[in-house]
Parts: sequence; C-alpha cells; structure tokens
Amino acid sequence: MEVLKEYSQALEKQLQTAVGVKEPVQLYEPIHYIISLGGKRLRPILTLLTCDFFGTDFNKAMNAALAVELFHNFSLIHDDIMDDAPLRRSKQTVHEKWDLNTGILSGDAMLILAYQLFEEYEAPLFQELAKLFSKTALEVCEGQQYDVDFETRDDVTLSEYIQMIDYKTAVLLGAAMKMGAIVANASEGCKDAIYAFGRNLGIAFQLQDDYLDVFGNPKTFGKQPGGDIITNKKTFLYLTAVSLSVASEAEALQHLYSISPADPSDKIETVKGIFEISGAAEAIQKEIEIYTNKAYEVLETIQLSEEKKQTLRAFGDWLMQRTV
Ligand code: IPE
Ligand code: IPE
Ligand code: MG
Ligand code: MG
Ligand code: MG
Repeated sequence: MEVLKEYSQALEKQLQTAVGVKEPVQLYEPIHYIISLGGKRLRPILTLLTCDFFGTDFNKAMNAALAVELFHNFSLIHDDIMDDAPLRRSKQTVHEKWDLNTGILSGDAMLILAYQLFEEYEAPLFQELAKLFSKTALEVCEGQQYDVDFETRDDVTLSEYIQMIDYKTAVLLGAAMKMGAIVANASEGCKDAIYAFGRNLGIAFQLQDDYLDVFGNPKTFGKQPGGDIITNKKTFLYLTAVSLSVASEAEALQHLYSISPADPSDKIETVKGIFEISGAAEAIQKEIEIYTNKAYEVLETIQLSEEKKQTLRAFGDWLMQRTV
C-alpha cells in the first residue's frame, strides 16, 4: 500500500542498524540473515501507523516497532524448529542453514535485543510498553504450546483452535497497534479499542495463513507447501472438514491426521481434495471475512477521522487478499 511507504522506508533503515553483525559471528549472522530475508513487516508498520494516526510523530514509536519485528522474527526461528520447517521467506530456515543450537541461541538473543529497545523510553512509557510486551510474549508461548499439543490430540474443538490462534498470532498484532497508541498517549478507550481491532484482524490473518499453507502458490508463498498437513495441525480447515464430511470421509481424514508418512505427497493431495469437497475451503474464507468485519465494527467506536478509518479498512482488505 502506497501510504505505508514512508513508514516502511524509515523502518527498514533502522532495522538494518539494529541487526549489524559482530563477534561472535555465529550468533549475530543468523539474526541478520532472517531480518534481511524481509517479510511483510506488518506488525511494526502497524505500530508506526497507529502512533501517527493518534497524532504523534511516528519516529517516536520506532523502537517499539523494531522490538515487535525482532520479537516476531525470534518467534519464527523457534517456530520453524518446532514445526520442522525447511523454508522461510523462500529461503532455508535458520536451523537448516546452520543448526538447531544456532537457531535456539540466535532466537534467544533476538528476544533480548527486543527488550533492550524499550530501554530508550522514559520511565512511565517504558513500564507500560514493557508490561504489554511481556504479557503478549507469554501469551504467544502459550499459543505455541497449544499448537504443538493439538498435533497429537484428536478431540480439538473449534473454539480451542480460535483461542490458540488468538494467542500465538492475534495478540501480537493487537499489541503492535496498542504500542503505537501508548507512545502517542492516546486515551485508555482508544488503546483498548485499537488493541481489539488488531486482535480481530490477527485472527483473520492466521486463518488466511492456514488457508495459504494448503492452497497458496508454492512458487510464491515462501514456505513448504502443505506443511500444516504434514505436521497434523488441527486447523480450521481440518476441524471444519471433519464436521462437514460424511462419517466415512471424516474417519479417513482423522486417520490421515494420525500418521506421518515418509513421503507425504499422497496425503497432502487427498487432504486437499477433502478440504475442497467438504466445503471447508469455502467456509474458511467466510470465517476470515467474519473476523475482519468484527475488526471494522470495533473501528467504528474509535475517534479517528473517516479518512484514517478508511486506510485501516484498506489494510484489512489487503490482508484478506494477500497471497504471501
Ligand atoms: C508468519 O507471519 C507467522 C504467522 C503468525 C502466521 P507473517 O506472514 O507476518 O510473516 P512475514 O514476517 O511476513 O514473513
Ligand atoms: C506461527 O504460526 C505463529 C508464531 C510464529 C508465533 P505458524 O506456524 O502457522 O506460522 P508459519 O506458517 O510457520 O509462518
Ligand atoms: Mg510454522
Ligand atoms: Mg507453528
Ligand atoms: Mg502457518
């Protein structure tokens, strides 16, 4: 989106400075690597935009934005270890390019670097930002633990799934926006509302991520196609397909999600077919719209100009349409 260019250009410059390589190279090079692979920079852009929209120079929110992006990339390095993922942003994952220990320690260092960035803020602001950050980071860990637990459970419910993605993904989008509002000294009501907006958008965002994992274009999506099927992730697609299918089909699907064949290509093709025929692929699109609209409803309660609200809705629409 054109209007976001100013934020992203400023952010990119600062990010490169934040992840310079020094000794020991084995620790810092992977950090520089993962950041240099790019990504959409969604969360830090939301931090800067929110600060700007609530009337404060967005550069004041730069350290918070950098912290959010460093935290996100730390979580990706560790997530790729946990998901045994070979590809990230169309390149080798950190633990594949280096090794497991490198992924663990470079990830840890990124988390600490993220915390350090808040030290630049004065006492009351520092406390409010750090408090939100710690709460959010812990929730992400909880979400990630549920995600892993669900791989081997066969009784996961839809509401458990939504809670899991709320924690592993949505709370960080909400917090990214709230940090912008905190730096801008917005009212408590505005801070809470923008947090709710980001969180609903975050649920829609993770649903879309799950959809793309199965149906995205393997040439451009940048991650291993069908990775969630290979690892038996109980996503919205899976849970909906089971509930919409006739008993024999549902049982076949449940069986496929209890095995891990050495060559997963047949499993992926069969599961994809069931996701389509059962109507789950269509249902997830509707669900994405529902959560995006929930975000837009919250937006109506916030005191912002119609033009700014329009930009935020355009951002939500863009997220829904994304292919990467
Ligand atoms: C990937 O996030 C992890 C999820 C929470 C789905 P993004 O899709 O924002 O990843 P990048 O940063 O753009 O690569
Ligand atoms: C990742 O969820 C959430 C976090 C990194 C906290 P996924 O496992 O679906 O993310 P991708 O698909 O690997 O990017
Ligand atoms: Mg993953
Ligand atoms: Mg994961
Ligand atoms: Mg995913």
